[in-house]
Amino acid sequence: MSGAKNAVLPILAATLLSDEPSVIENAPQVSDVALMCDILRELGAKVIQAGEEITVHPDGCRGTRAPYELVSRMRASICVLGPLLAKQHRAEVSMPGGCVIGPRPIDLHVKGLQCLGASYAIEHGYMVWQAPRLAGARVHLGGAYGSSVLATDNVLMAAALAEGITTIEHAACEPEVVDLADCLSAMGARITGQGTPVIHVEGVRQLHGVRYRIISDRIEAGTLLIAAAMVGGDVTLEGARADHLEALIDKLAEASVRVEQTPGALRVRATQPTQAADITTLPFPGFPTDLQAQMMALMSISRGVSVLTEKVYPERFMHISELNRMGAHITREGASAIVKGVSHLSGAPVTAPDLRASAALVLAGMAAESQTEVSGLEHLDRGYQHLDHQLRLLGARIHRTHRKE
Ligand code: EPU
Repeated sequence: MSGAKNAVLPILAATLLSDEPSVIENAPQVSDVALMCDILRELGAKVIQAGEEITVHPDGCRGTRAPYELVSRMRASICVLGPLLAKQHRAEVSMPGGCVIGPRPIDLHVKGLQCLGASYAIEHGYMVWQAPRLAGARVHLGGAYGSSVLATDNVLMAAALAEGITTIEHAACEPEVVDLADCLSAMGARITGQGTPVIHVEGVRQLHGVRYRIISDRIEAGTLLIAAAMVGGDVTLEGARADHLEALIDKLAEASVRVEQTPGALRVRATQPTQAADITTLPFPGFPTDLQAQMMALMSISRGVSVLTEKVYPERFMHISELNRMGAHITREGASAIVKGVSHLSGAPVTAPDLRASAALVLAGMAAESQTEVSGLEHLDRGYQHLDHQLRLLGARIHRTHRKE
């Protein structure tokens, strides 16, 4: 398994909290990570990528501006905000703008950082933040759709160097947040409660550099488990963690796909046909929104009718029309998709609208009769290091007709 994209992005930003170099191991080689390295360089850090190891020398980092050209390509760039405010007391971050998976407000980031004493003004499309002094506070981060992963990360990073004690309530519990907190702790931060909805942070005066290994990517593992479920077979995923995938494993069992935990690995033994299962996406430990599209591909060829409801991103359904082009029978009702299982999908040219949808279409193409051509692979390359290679190892007949940029 590759390292988790959504863990390494904020952890790279966190390296800016120290003056000393840090080495991050097990970083996936995906384009979002390359972009985050570019953002750190833009801010003045020296960043060396050698395979899955990234070394950041933050001592020359005096920049405070995350420019529009970079932020508009990746929402996660907003996680430089917390470190910049904590370390440089100023940050200019382009307003993130819209996103293909629906509206992505930043009110919780704003609320959290304001609680710690930062303030901002909007100037020419940028949020210009100031924080002469950050002070610990009680911060409640519950929003209209529950907790927020990157808002929790931003507050955590700012609080690590703030004066006094911060309590984050309604904190996100995702494993990637725990990984960031563990990395910060290894840098000398004082954090307890990560992985629960209440995190306590006792600010320290400075953090040191770290050598830190990123957790494995649960969404990549989940995508491969669903792939095996779609075409049948016996697959073992080394490094995949059941404790990060309980909600998926539970739903796969309902679809009659057995996943067993073996030491350090997950093994799936799938036979066709699979059964329909209703799914609601929720913050961790609920079913992850980042596996909703892939699960919809599986449900489209499972027996019966399933209802997939999005409670994290109610607009994240761009893949429905592409799956229907392949013969799926899916209708949308507000924040739900009603999927009537069909006996088979039929290969077609399709276009990936976003990262997780691109994986769903690759999986659907693998299960479909005849050939499917998926375009828009720049989305896939944002978050999957080598999905086509992994699927080929599992026996899929899949190849890229255009090289990665
Ligand atoms: N939200 C607000 N206000 C905020 C922030 C978020 O209302 O200030 C809402 C969002 O609109 C959404 C919900 O809260 O409805 C949850 O969003 P969250 O902030 O948790 O998302 P994020 O932190 O921006 C991360 C992942 C996403 C993943 C979500 C949910 C990274 C880099 N990105 O985004 O990953 O879908 O958490 O788990 O960690 C992906 O990898 O494909 C991806 C989109």
